Amino acid sequence: MANAIGPSTIHKWIGMVDRLQDTDSAYLAELALHGRARGATVVITAPPDPSFVCGIIGCVSDEPVTKTILDGLRRVEYRGYDSAGLATIDGGEMEVRKGVGRLQEIEAKVKLSELTGSVGMGHTRWATHGGVTVPNAHPQESCGEQVALVHNGIIENYSQLKKKLLAGGHVFKSETDTEVIVHLIEQAYRRTKDPVKATSSAVKKLKGQYAIVVLFRDRPDVLVGARKDAPLMIGVGDGQMFIASDVLAFIEHTDQTIFLDNLEVVKLNKEGAEIYNSAGRRVNRKATQVAWELSEISKEDYAHYTRKEIDEQPRTVASAALQDDTLVAEFARRIRSAESIFVVAAGSSFHAGLLLKHRLYREAKIRCDATLAGEFRENQDWVGRDSVMVVISQSGETADVLDAVKLAKKKGAKILSIVNAAGSALARESDTVLLLNCGPEVGVAATKSFTAQVMVVNRVVDAVLGKKRTDGIKELSRAVQGALSTESQVVELAKKYKDRPDFYFVAKGFHYPVALEGALKLKELSYVHAEGMPASELKHGTLALIERGTPVVVINPSGENHDDTLSSAEELKARGARVIGISDVEDAVYTHFIKVPKVEPQMMPIVEAIPLQLIAYHFAVARKNDPDYPRNLAKSVTVK
Ligand code: F6R
Repeated sequence: MANAIGPSTIHKWIGMVDRLQDTDSAYLAELALHGRARGATVVITAPPDPSFVCGIIGCVSDEPVTKTILDGLRRVEYRGYDSAGLATIDGGEMEVRKGVGRLQEIEAKVKLSELTGSVGMGHTRWATHGGVTVPNAHPQESCGEQVALVHNGIIENYSQLKKKLLAGGHVFKSETDTEVIVHLIEQAYRRTKDPVKATSSAVKKLKGQYAIVVLFRDRPDVLVGARKDAPLMIGVGDGQMFIASDVLAFIEHTDQTIFLDNLEVVKLNKEGAEIYNSAGRRVNRKATQVAWELSEISKEDYAHYTRKEIDEQPRTVASAALQDDTLVAEFARRIRSAESIFVVAAGSSFHAGLLLKHRLYREAKIRCDATLAGEFRENQDWVGRDSVMVVISQSGETADVLDAVKLAKKKGAKILSIVNAAGSALARESDTVLLLNCGPEVGVAATKSFTAQVMVVNRVVDAVLGKKRTDGIKELSRAVQGALSTESQVVELAKKYKDRPDFYFVAKGFHYPVALEGALKLKELSYVHAEGMPASELKHGTLALIERGTPVVVINPSGENHDDTLSSAEELKARGARVIGISDVEDAVYTHFIKVPKVEPQMMPIVEAIPLQLIAYHFAVARKNDPDYPRNLAKSVTVK
């Protein structure tokens, strides 16, 4: 379980994890952060790198592999879930079956489970290049049907490569960037007749990120893998070997793991692995024993990860509060001494960023900008050597966020980040990093990561203000528990309003970002149109949309803006709105009232967010959507 962990602890653990410190993936730091390391034994409680959106598993064995591959795919399906496929070789024949939708739908259509053979691989996809279609699903096959391949990552120079391959007579069946790799390997295999040499020669032509697993029709004894900037690891079993994007995929079978480094190519047969570096030289590497606390990543008795993660918050707000004081002080010092400050994030993380901006403005009297990462370019003329960029991100891999960071660094700005994935690209690019310590977030919607961000933001501003706040965390955890007990009311609201086409969330001042967060959650999980706005803005247009029965959530805690917000609630009610009040104080204006516990003002967004998350979750369930896998979304938006 993740405890209070500072950078010194992380470094100590990384040191103890033997030779793995030169592996560049997010994986290592996750191991260190969430594990208890003793010698070479590591306990992982987190999925390694939530930044890559497809799942891969391959297996070569002396027994049939299809069930093993399907079980592994189910475990990594949360990473990508718009299509999936499997390939095996049996009796000299390579068969590929694939389809669009979730694994169980594809199974019903094409019976993946009927594939036979003792070597094979599978893939779950989240579309980047090319739409969600059967030809675009993986495995991709070469036109000579000699080679099949699964891929995670993005090939940046695929269009140039495709042009050349087309000119050379290759026939393409998909719109994916991936397909160029399989043709390149087949081309090299014809020449070399060697799976490792063919793969090495092909990947040398690629620009971008890749983790690939390759099957060769006339070599049912081997599986080949290669990686660059995308995770890929080997599981050493008894009479069988695994290769996967995630330990999760094979942990049921073995805890002996070999981590591939960037630009390495590996050949597996059922007895072992041969690893080659980019110069083609053999690399000797021992397996690391990886034990893993399944409960952190399993759904336990919950119907959905999202619901489980909502429930974890009494604990995760506490673990987020436990920060290394020296680091927080360093973060605060850099903010205080900066000439200009840019708070940059996307989605829910941006809403946490707006809270940071509010407190810096109002309490610390520090001016700053809060900008959506994808719009950061607008600020470029104002960024310089004395600027600080405060970046907030759960995954630390959001493409827009990383682009903004790159731009700011070019201009000489310092990067301070608040991030969940310890070894993510953002963490690696930052001058100072504060971790959310809330454990892996599998549900696509940000829930516990948002409240953890609010907690860390508060720790930072308190340090800027020179306030010490060490107690009160237990009370806050209890208050979060109290907010969770509003669930039965939320279920009733979901029944009542689930078919309404529009929803509004209003609040004022410090609570306005919470209204934005409520609307975002509802949109992404229930697919209902929702808008969040300051209460004061209603009269500038939105009131025209309010009609009899329109549900409006009013977030209105006691304090500075309470009475003003009540007046807005009255205006809404007068126009027929059904006003759902979320507050520590009741009022007759509310059609429905959800009471949340009163905590200190800066922490109120945390308790207010809980019923909003529950609303989104229960509306999704009532509308028969799967909250863990909302359509068109992925956990980390690593593409632009
Ligand atoms: C909302 C949600 C997304 C993310 C956004 C940023 O529930 O999950 O809006 O907040 O994609 O992601 P990170 O925080 O990983 O940069």
